[in-house]
Amino acid sequence: MTDKKKLGRNQKDSQDDMVNLVDNIDRDDDLKFNRRAFLKTAVGASVALGLATVPFSVRAMLGFAEDDFERTEITKMVNVPKGSSITFNYPTDKDPAILIHTKAGEWLAYNSACPHLMCPVFYEPEKEELVCPCHKGYFDLHSGQPMAGPPQRELPLIEIELDNGVVYAVGRKIRHG
Ligand code: FES
Repeated sequence: MTDKKKLGRNQKDSQDDMVNLVDNIDRDDDLKFNRRAFLKTAVGASVALGLATVPFSVRAMLGFAEDDFERTEITKMVNVPKGSSITFNYPTDKDPAILIHTKAGEWLAYNSACPHLMCPVFYEPEKEELVCPCHKGYFDLHSGQPMAGPPQRELPLIEIELDNGVVYAVGRKIRHG
């Protein structure tokens, strides 16, 4: 009799255990499905966002941000013979810049405040390089990238146009990061 009672009780316990087990399995499955659904939604949202911002992303991947400014006259071409430079301000009166006419005849322009401690950068025609005299910073003439000395960032490139004997500034490219 006692054994029967025991058996009955054991059977009930087993049934309860089974119910709990099934409950837990369902809960685990729910969690898995919820996690999967969340991940799918998150990935979908990221892809949608990514597609919506492709032009920006491509520029960001390249590390460039391009400013749009008005076309601004810098000077007449005759004022800057080969192997010389002039200073101007762009895009605002507070942004010093340098326009360079290389010995080979190329036209280049950069913001000229040294990224180290803001000293003005000069064109050195003998060596065809850009120099910051304050702490001997050197920049590549064709890219504005730092070559030697303390500067860690490049000089922002000013985009120019030559039109009818006049040099215009038309934009600026800054590499971030
Ligand atoms: S300010 Fe240009 S190298 Fe220091």
